[in-house]
Amino acid sequence: MLQDKIQKYTEEINQFVTQKADELEQFRIKYLGSKGIIKEVFEEFKTASVDEKKSLGKVLNTFKQLAESKYQTLKESAIEGKAANADENLDLSLPGEGFEIGSRHPLALVRREIVEIFAKLGFTVAEGPEIEDDWHNFSALNFPEEHPARDMQDTFFIKKATTSRSAGEGRGEAIGDIALRTHTSSVQVRMMEQGKPPFRAIMPGRVYRNEAISARAHCFFHQIEGLYVDENVSFADLKQTLFYFVQELYGEGTKVRFRPSYFPFTEPSAEMDISCTICKGAGCTLCKYSGWVEILGCGMVDPNVLENCDIDSKKYSGFAFGMGIERIANLKFEIKDLRLFSENDLRFLKQYKSALI
Ligand code: PHE
Repeated sequence: MLQDKIQKYTEEINQFVTQKADELEQFRIKYLGSKGIIKEVFEEFKTASVDEKKSLGKVLNTFKQLAESKYQTLKESAIEGKAANADENLDLSLPGEGFEIGSRHPLALVRREIVEIFAKLGFTVAEGPEIEDDWHNFSALNFPEEHPARDMQDTFFIKKATTSRSAGEGRGEAIGDIALRTHTSSVQVRMMEQGKPPFRAIMPGRVYRNEAISARAHCFFHQIEGLYVDENVSFADLKQTLFYFVQELYGEGTKVRFRPSYFPFTEPSAEMDISCTICKGAGCTLCKYSGWVEILGCGMVDPNVLENCDIDSKKYSGFAFGMGIERIANLKFEIKDLRLFSENDLRFLKQYKSALI
């Protein structure tokens, strides 16, 4: 019966799905084509009795619409599917796009190299806070009350925030003894307060000084502090340790010399120069034609500092040193302008991609 036929085809159409253009075309030919099923059932309809025609007319029309709308929907979704699969044209044999990996900052490279050299001598790494109190940055380190380093011009003091806007620039009240550390020597104090000798550590970190920014000065820079405290530590140990460090960092044959100096927290104190790494002592603009460049300050830890940290200065002695990482990097990479270190210009930073990795 025609009715049963239509029933069967309706089910078939309802179940039919495809994304493929050729299958869809076959569907169209089968149902909607000039010799298709729709044509066929309409032909058959003509032969039906008048009574049958009454009930079948509607059924036939619904069936026709079903076939047509199924075809339309499948056609549209096939087009969309094609758009989504646009990378059908993808050429997998083309070379990849690649992505750039970052590079290490020159200061990080130098810091790591220094840490590694001292690690060979048994020095561990310690760190301390950048916001410090007067005790750790100055007083415990034997700075006299009136020492110029405590001066407002050198040190960034931390001020209490106020809500009043009228006070303008620099508003707020100085909290008194809270400041940004001016050197990493504050970490020496923290280390000695917290532990018991022997101490053998280096302490890298950022320090701040209230200086106008130029090619040769910045308001923040980086230091590495060194501390060695034990029984019977002498100036000879200090010299040998630093001599070894310099040979490792700048190569064998690099000369060192110590000039007497003054720091409140070391006694005796010295500044250490190395033979100029650029001209090898012949004289150039970097060493100002002297053949020598200063790289660090050092000395025997002042007994007052040991006592301030509850360490028996009769039993223990030690040495300390502090160097600027920027300075060391300048001598290694000949970077003439300090500002380059903090401006994050990729053209500058990228040059250190393979250096010292
Ligand atoms: N803290 C000194 C400075 O910033 C360097 C130093 C450290 C000197 C340790 C002696 C001993 O200049």
